[in-house]
Formats: sequence, structure tokens, C-alpha cells
Amino acid sequence: MWEMINNRRIVFGENRVDEIPGILKWYGLKKVFFASGNSNPALRERICNGLTTEGIEYSIYLAIQGEPDLTVINNGRDQFITEHCDCTLAVGGGSVIDAAKTIGMLATNGGLAEDYQMHGRAVTHVPPFFIAVPTTAGTGAEATKVAVVKNNYNGLKKSLYHTTMIADVAILDPLVTVGMPKRLTAATGMDALSHAIESYVSLNATPLTEMNGLQAIRLIKQSLERACEHPDDIAARSDMLLASYFGGCAISAGIGIAHIMAQPIGAMYTIPHGDACSIFLPLAMEFNLDCAVHKYAQIAEALGVAVHGESERNNALRAIEEVKRLRKSIGAPTSLKAYLKGETPDEDLMVETVKKTTGHITCNPRKVDEDVYRYVFKLAM
Ligand SMILES: [Fe+2]
Repeated sequence: MWEMINNRRIVFGENRVDEIPGILKWYGLKKVFFASGNSNPALRERICNGLTTEGIEYSIYLAIQGEPDLTVINNGRDQFITEHCDCTLAVGGGSVIDAAKTIGMLATNGGLAEDYQMHGRAVTHVPPFFIAVPTTAGTGAEATKVAVVKNNYNGLKKSLYHTTMIADVAILDPLVTVGMPKRLTAATGMDALSHAIESYVSLNATPLTEMNGLQAIRLIKQSLERACEHPDDIAARSDMLLASYFGGCAISAGIGIAHIMAQPIGAMYTIPHGDACSIFLPLAMEFNLDCAVHKYAQIAEALGVAVHGESERNNALRAIEEVKRLRKSIGAPTSLKAYLKGETPDEDLMVETVKKTTGHITCNPRKVDEDVYRYVFKLAM
């Protein structure tokens, strides 16, 4: 038994961001809450000019600089309401999209972001019309109903979600990802690969998430290295943007041990999410190997490294080696060391943090517990 939530409309192609004002106008919307990162002022100005031409007002929100916390979200909700906005536009990375997703929901449902985290208060009202435009290729936040928000009081990153929180329209314009630096391209690409692989071996995988996951893996193999080495290669950028989208669709099957570790540990040591995923993904694959041999062999095929006639186990091992090779080739992080800055990590605090945030997740193919968190954490040093 399963269900799947997708965007109502997906708009893919070069310069498709220019269609945002027309879409809002068609829906009869008057004033847009425009959440954006601060890294691409030219793109923002271009969209604002288009909105003005179509007679749509806007209220810009630039406060989302890193992964969003409660203050950023709750202030955004206040701005949405006091400015009388009637729709939401997010142009940015996963943090901006997740923040906008939550701000829109709060604008119609009331309360504070923390009320809704971890199965808290229920969403009871449809959020405003929402367009999401990813400017990085990794989180797939435009394809999900989930937002991850850091709680200021306890430092924990927790999710909140509802089927109506997914963007109504996702605009995938590869040209807006062209300026991404190599390091960010590599890390976000590893995040997308983690979504694809973890969801594929998840105990909650469905035919739709499997289809999305495998296609994401094929596209990442085809184009991640090229996108890193040749940032202006539009075909590679297009493949990665689609891979990120498909990874976002796939992750509704649930996250596995790589994300179970990466999400809380990233919050503890201020590690960008993609970097944390890059560190934990191959470790997760090795840990899960015996419980997912068949699926890893299929992943080896998607990665183009399966050898016909070989045992599934050998091909599964090839998949793991290929992920490690790819990570090395793009220069993505392999160890937590650099982020610990010489500090001796507090292992007990790490275990408690994982337990309080992602420790409830049970769809990893091999059973995980406190000893596993400690074991994998040590391997990541
Ligand atoms: Fe992720």
C-alpha cells in the first residue's frame, strides 16, 4: 500500500523562469512572497521586472542565508501576512525552497514552525499557490512535501510536512544552475545520488520511487563529472537538474542510514548537507550490502559498471566502488575530520542527537541502532 505526491506542473527548459509572471497572472494572483538566496541578484531582478510588467506586486524575503531555522521561518510568515501576499515563489537552493514551503503553510494555518515539527500540530488549510525554482541540483526540495527546519532552542534539524506543502509548479531551468561553483555542484550532486540510492534500497520503495531513483542514478553517472569540470555545459546541467528532481521524487520512499546520520551530524558540526551525504553514502552502502545485494547489483547496472555473468554480489561491490570513484573524481568530501576542527567528538551527544531527530526511521534495509550510529560515525572520521 502506498501513495505518491507530485507537483501539479513541471516546467523544464532554458529560460523558462521568464514564464513565472504569466503563470501567476493566469491564476489571478496579485502579490507574491518572493523568497530568494542572495547569490544571484541579476536573476532576481529579471524576475521582478517580469512581475512588474504583468502588474503583479512582490515582497522580497532574503533572510534565508543558510539552512533555515525557526526565526527565519517565523519572520517570513509575519512578512507574508503583513504584506498581504497571496502566493509564494522560491528561487534558490533547498534551504530557500524548504523555508518558503513552510512559510506558505504557516500563512494559512497559523502558529509557529515548531508547532508542526515531528508529527506535531496538523496542517488543516491549503497553503497558498507555490512556485519553486531550484538554483542548485541536489536537494530535490521542489519535488517533495517535506521541509527540514533547524530548531533554535535545541539545535536539532527536524522535518515537517504535508501533502499540500509540495510546490504547485516546479520550474527546472538549467541556465539558472550554470553559475554554481564546482564544490557546490559536487556536494549537491552527491546529495542527489544519496536520495536515489537510499530510496532505491529502502524497505518502503515503490515502483514509482524505484523508477525515479534509477533514472537519477543514470543521469548522475552520465553528467555529474562533466557538470563539475565544465560548468557551462548546459546538457550536463540539464541532466543534473533532472537527476535532482527525480531524486526528490524518489526520496518519498524514505531515507536510509546515510541521511539518518548526515542530517543530525550536519546540524551538530555545521556541515553543509551535501558534504555530509558525500561522507556517509559509501559507508551506508557497505553497511547495507548484505541486506540489499540484488538492488545494489541493479544500481551497478544504472551506473554502467555491472559485468554480465558476474555474481550479484560482485556487481553490488562494483556499485560501491563506482560511487567512491565518482566522489573522488569530483573532489567531494570523504571524512568528517575537517569539520571537527581538531575537537574530540562527543559520541554520546551524537547518539542522542540522532535518536531525537532521525532515529525513528525504520526503512533502512539493515536494522540500525545506537551501536550502528557509533560504528558508522567512527568510520566517517
Ligand atoms: Fe539529502
